[in-house]
Amino acid sequence: MITFDPANTTASRVGPEHGLSDAELEEAADATGSLCARYAKESAEGKFGFARLPYKELPVREVEAYARERAGAFRNLVQVGIGGSALGATAIHGALCDRFHNERGTRPRYYALDNVDPEETSSLLEMLDPKETLFHVVTKSGDTTETMAGFLAVLDRIRRAAGERWTEHLVLTTDPEKGFLRAFAKEHGVAAFSIPPDVGGRFSVLSPVGLLPAALLGVDVRELIEGAADAHEACESEDPRANPAYRFALTAQLLDARRGKRIHVMMPYARALRDVADWFRQLWAESLGKNGRAGPTPVLALGTTDQHSQVQLYAEGPNDKYVIFVEVSRFRAEETVPSPLGADAPPAFLQGKGFSGILSAMKAGTEKALVQARRPNATVRLEEISPRTLGALFFFLEAATLFAGWLYGVDPFDQPGVEAGKKAAFSLLGKPGYPPLPPPSPGARHAVRILRAEG
Ligand code: PA5
Repeated sequence: MITFDPANTTASRVGPEHGLSDAELEEAADATGSLCARYAKESAEGKFGFARLPYKELPVREVEAYARERAGAFRNLVQVGIGGSALGATAIHGALCDRFHNERGTRPRYYALDNVDPEETSSLLEMLDPKETLFHVVTKSGDTTETMAGFLAVLDRIRRAAGERWTEHLVLTTDPEKGFLRAFAKEHGVAAFSIPPDVGGRFSVLSPVGLLPAALLGVDVRELIEGAADAHEACESEDPRANPAYRFALTAQLLDARRGKRIHVMMPYARALRDVADWFRQLWAESLGKNGRAGPTPVLALGTTDQHSQVQLYAEGPNDKYVIFVEVSRFRAEETVPSPLGADAPPAFLQGKGFSGILSAMKAGTEKALVQARRPNATVRLEEISPRTLGALFFFLEAATLFAGWLYGVDPFDQPGVEAGKKAAFSLLGKPGYPPLPPPSPGARHAVRILRAEG
């Protein structure tokens, strides 16, 4: 079970200046609640690619078969992709594999190559034996600079290391028809999966982009998508008071537009969900930041670690934040505080307590402090972390993002700002067809020395 509880965003909890009144919520639901019926109708018509993913049998069968054939064959799995092509897979690994999965040597260890940082790339590729590694290269467009650079680097290594058998170390996920990678896969007989053309990168975690690494990591992908299908059913409710995705989006948008809560912090109290919050950060930012007007700023924080880094600011800094806690009721492991120092030692009050109980007390304490300081916050509560609840959480947040796009009046599925940056980089890197950029206008020197050059 997963619930969304926005009680601490209401005026009765945090006061009318910072919280939403019942009348206001009713009035907003009357004005925009028809979006729920719109979602139900348009998703039934198959209009939203991401909402069809939980019902696609073929890719599930295909990734299961591929993973079965390769079970135990590779020591390492590297997801080569960026943005939506990497964050979902990393979130699945973080949530559903042991925290120290890689260090324990469980096959395959998981890595993401989602940058062109020279030190990180060299270090990773030097550490991994290409003959023991499967590289999953993911790019919907097939021409993202960072991914192409990573692809060429790994291709070179596997060709040199594995000779004629190099294709066994590569699997591609890209557009079913278009783009260089699809043509490359066909030409060389490389295994390849598809991202449906109407599913954008940040909405693609439940396609082979995320399902393939999940299956290779031993995750029950059917449970993932069944959880997503369950959440889809809830998010299809035409009743705005019962539709969790609409409620999530409406709360966030009203707090932003009417109470100036422009910073939306997602703060899981479970280390396993940290990368899910990172995935959400991209989903929320890239989908809603549009037109120079709309766009709450999503922030990632981790409980309790960031209580000692961020919460001072959230509790006493500008009251411009909305904190969304993510809480887990039942953990997969427990640790009980032992009593090596006897009952008189100062920390004795902790003895016999479970770490999960301490974590939940810390969350409850932060929540209370925020309420006292009149800072709106809400809680997404997962009964446990499992493939099923994770699939549901992914889907719920995707649907909420679509509703938020409608409420903010922007298209949540495009990303013209990212495209502009990609094109400018093509020009700078001399890609054919992209004219050189004009030089920056001359201006005063702005850089100020901090340290003298060596030598
Ligand atoms: O969500 C998105 O659309 C983006 O974050 C993309 O996933 C990212 O830019 C990578 O694009 P591509 O998959 O085409 O390489």
